[in-house]
Amino acid sequence: MIVLGIETSCDETAAAVVTDAREIRADVVLSQLDDHTPYGGVVPEIAARAHLEHLDGLIRRAMAEAGVGFGDLDAIAATGGPGLIGGVIVGVMTAKAIAAARGLPFIAVNHLEGHALTARLTNDVAFPYLLLLASGGHCQLLVVEGVGRYRRLGTTIDDAVGEAFDKTAKLLGLGYPGGPLVEQAAARATNPGRFALPRPLVGRPGCDFSFSGLKTAVRRHVEELGAPLSDADRDDLAAAFQSTVAEVMADRCARAIARFKADHPQGGALVVAGGVAANKTLRARLQILADREGLPFVAPPLRLCTDNAAMIAWAGIERFRLGESDPLTFAPRPRWPLDPTAAPVIGRAGVGSGVKA
Ligand code: KG4
Ligand code: ZN
Repeated sequence: MIVLGIETSCDETAAAVVTDAREIRADVVLSQLDDHTPYGGVVPEIAARAHLEHLDGLIRRAMAEAGVGFGDLDAIAATGGPGLIGGVIVGVMTAKAIAAARGLPFIAVNHLEGHALTARLTNDVAFPYLLLLASGGHCQLLVVEGVGRYRRLGTTIDDAVGEAFDKTAKLLGLGYPGGPLVEQAAARATNPGRFALPRPLVGRPGCDFSFSGLKTAVRRHVEELGAPLSDADRDDLAAAFQSTVAEVMADRCARAIARFKADHPQGGALVVAGGVAANKTLRARLQILADREGLPFVAPPLRLCTDNAAMIAWAGIERFRLGESDPLTFAPRPRWPLDPTAAPVIGRAGVGSGVKA
């Protein structure tokens, strides 16, 4: 089975060709970073236009790299949401057009399911597993019981963790996107233990997250130090922020593991996904936790943690081989929660309800 995947839900335009034998034949990603950098964040209209301009060429490139023609494909999968709706429409319409012209099945993939199932593409992980989904729009702990079967144990009550990285980067004058820049600054820190930051919700019951207090604490330090920050101040603060995030995540994951083990004593794995899962300090901290808990720790390669189309093609394969596909009347979804039974989060509207930033 060979599937073409298309991803256009945020600021990456991506196309990939993947087989059901877990082979990534092609995986091309075009980042729109330069288009958005002057604005300090993703501008939805600019993103939609850039997807429109580049998607055709990227699909052609992916198919050429994979050495396949449209006649070789078994299905087309595209991100159907959640995300910036202009971009999602571009990807969905393109996929539908190819499907209609070639008489191929079309599969609308939930972007979050793409992240959630990546570990099965890269590491052949069996169900059930505990998933930490940490991205720019989300911070959730989910039990992945099967394709389409997700049970949310916790979510953020304010900012998503990637959003916290991005806002902290802005406070520190590091630019956008913040995650990788904070990580690089932290690596340069000469006194990483200099600042003590609050650790929101650590030690408290439940598996929810909170990051806004942490961001406020960083702002207070920045104000006290006074502008402009020296390189040493900036790098030490970045290190403090990053290690605090890793501690908070480990505490929340430890609680989720206890609940996961109670329901699934036969085993499982701790899996990370989403852009923030590319962070090496976080990965190292979670590896220690998983070792302590006797669970395998699975973190996909860095380039498959951030947005890509291989994960969309793979989620399409997972659905298609269960006999699922979508009609060409499918309407793109700005919101699309993975666990529709999970209670909405009190706090900022949107976060946790399937919105993606
Ligand atoms: O999954 P993703 O590519 O897009 C969304 O679906 O949101 O995640 C993007 C987020 C951004 O907030 C970015 O700053 C963060 O992931 N990120 C990182 C790192 N690389 C990307 N955060 C921390 N450390 C990194 N190395
Ligand atoms: Zn994503």
